[in-house]
Amino acid sequence: MSVRMHIPGVSDLTAENKSPFVYNQWYVAALSKEIDDQPLARTLLNEPVVMFRDGDGEVSALADRCCHKALPLSAGLVEAGGIRCGYHGLLFNGAGQCIEIPGQAIIPKRAMVKSYPLQERDGLIWIWFGDEQTPQPTCDAPNYPVHNDPNYVWDGDVYHYQAPYQLIHDNLLDLSHLGYVHLKTIGGDAKIHMNADMKTTTEGDSVTVVRHMPNVTPPPTYSAAFPFKGPIDRWQEIDFQVTHLKIWTGGADVGSCDLNDPNRGGFHLKGFHGITPESETTSHYLWTMATNPALERESVLQKVIDQTAFTFDEDKVVIENQYRNMKQFGNQPMISIHVDSGANRARLIMERLRTQPA
Ligand code: FES
Ligand SMILES: [Fe+2]
Repeated sequence: MSVRMHIPGVSDLTAENKSPFVYNQWYVAALSKEIDDQPLARTLLNEPVVMFRDGDGEVSALADRCCHKALPLSAGLVEAGGIRCGYHGLLFNGAGQCIEIPGQAIIPKRAMVKSYPLQERDGLIWIWFGDEQTPQPTCDAPNYPVHNDPNYVWDGDVYHYQAPYQLIHDNLLDLSHLGYVHLKTIGGDAKIHMNADMKTTTEGDSVTVVRHMPNVTPPPTYSAAFPFKGPIDRWQEIDFQVTHLKIWTGGADVGSCDLNDPNRGGFHLKGFHGITPESETTSHYLWTMATNPALERESVLQKVIDQTAFTFDEDKVVIENQYRNMKQFGNQPMISIHVDSGANRARLIMERLRTQPA
């Protein structure tokens, strides 16, 4: 079967009036740890944004363009009351209003820049991208309690991809690739991955893929972080949402727990994956990885983070290579195989939501 795909720069088989991105969503703009006393510039959904933390610790996001002479505000300085432009010193608060023009008493009403709704929750900074009808959020940003769970330790990083967001979705929804791409860390026998018992379900705008692999050899990352006795029962639970995925993978000694028990033991990797388009053809990948340390907390965390970064570097190489080749070969059909069910469903959801005008 051939697959209908929207791949920017390669083919666009969708209706011409579709927006390139899905709007009316909370996207991950940054990890909390990225924003300290310096401004952070990041282009999100084709819009250059500057983020900064004021004297009260509140994070704000403004259009990265001074309304005086258009210097990027990210070239300025953060102060307790806001961000000061680095050209003529206009000071803007978190709402985007100019609150000081050095040497001028009257501040014109038009002296303001666009501000974006922002919420910082559980170590993640979320930004609302609404359409013209819905510029303000219709709900709170998602929470992520794993980051506050005392049973887990976590850290994360932000990667930039020379590839469209859809290809990162595909990769994360299809973990059969572990046996071919990630042999040094979380892989294992490729045939076992390709033959895993797999269940895919759709509910509203989300997709869930659950995969079980009983009685298998633990892969290197698992063995390095957890004292398994021998073979393990492995699980992979993927929860796709429009702007992010939560992926819970892990393993337990064979027969030691029920793989459907949400409170099961063993070794856990709980990954958070924020996929935020920079443009139609480039993406930000904001990830965190949490684990339940059975051994010494800090050394287990370091091992898990180092091996996760190594693993995600491998994905980046594959996905960017894949996208380069798609552009090279142009609009040629692709086939779909059994492991693509989750990715195909997610793609249908994104296509449906992209029909909304920007
Ligand atoms: S360009 Fe920003 S103050 Fe002049
Ligand atoms: Fe991967």
